[in-house]
Amino acid sequence: MMNQSNETISALVENAGLRHIAFIMDGNGRWANARMMPREAGHKAGADNFKKIVRYCRNIGIRYCTVYAFSTENWNRPKREVDAIMRLLDAFAKEADEEKEIEFHFIGDKSPLEPSMREHLERLEKDTVGRPYVLNIALNYGGRAEIVHAVNALLAEGKTDITEADISARIYTSHCPDPDLVVRTGKELRISNFLLWQSAYAEYYFSDKMWPELTSDDVDDMVKSFAGRKRRWGGLDKA
Ligand code: IPE
Ligand code: IPE
Ligand code: MG
Repeated sequence: MMNQSNETISALVENAGLRHIAFIMDGNGRWANARMMPREAGHKAGADNFKKIVRYCRNIGIRYCTVYAFSTENWNRPKREVDAIMRLLDAFAKEADEEKEIEFHFIGDKSPLEPSMREHLERLEKDTVGRPYVLNIALNYGGRAEIVHAVNALLAEGKTDITEADISARIYTSHCPDPDLVVRTGKELRISNFLLWQSAYAEYYFSDKMWPELTSDDVDDMVKSFAGRKRRWGGLDKA
């Protein structure tokens, strides 16, 4: 729903040039622990909140959104927890069939996923091309693995003199501008192998909130913080 304050925030999004926002959705487990609930319940609450936050970002006019759902390192967790996260992602992909406005991309290495889930994700990607909003879901994603994958793809094409533009064209987010703002919830001050290539000049925002408790007001605060920053790209402020 668009209301007065949404309109103000949308204007800030537009004027500040916030095209692409990326979220490291961290803190599901601690959110659940604090409530004497199993970690899996935290992931369920996190998945529900992810849908709300993504919808809000779209409502305020942010065209590209990327979320970190599962890293290449998250396989190190107990099988029970990994299975629960995969089930939530599978359920999300099924709901996504009803979506009309979003172009979906599942970025990362899909090869270890269940074949039926993998086929479904690939079909969603194919069927949703050209829609007005883009959602990238990082799944079995690692920033280093992505760069290695891009370089290997270029070598396989016979490239020898690899440029930055070549790598940008072969990474998983080649259909998007680089993220303008990278947000991490869950109080940790690190990047954990997320969008390493793309974030060279991103702005960062770290929130002490656990992912399931992040609200649209918090997103407004992020937009305001972003709008107040000076991006210099290595140059100088305009006089
Ligand atoms: C969700 O938060 C991120 C995923 C890896 C799915 P966590 O599960 O890492 O929660 P914390 O950091 O242990 O609280
Ligand atoms: C980063 O969170 C990965 C996702 C949010 C999917 P982690 O909880 O895996 O990161 P670390 O282990 O604290 O660095
Ligand atoms: Mg974590």
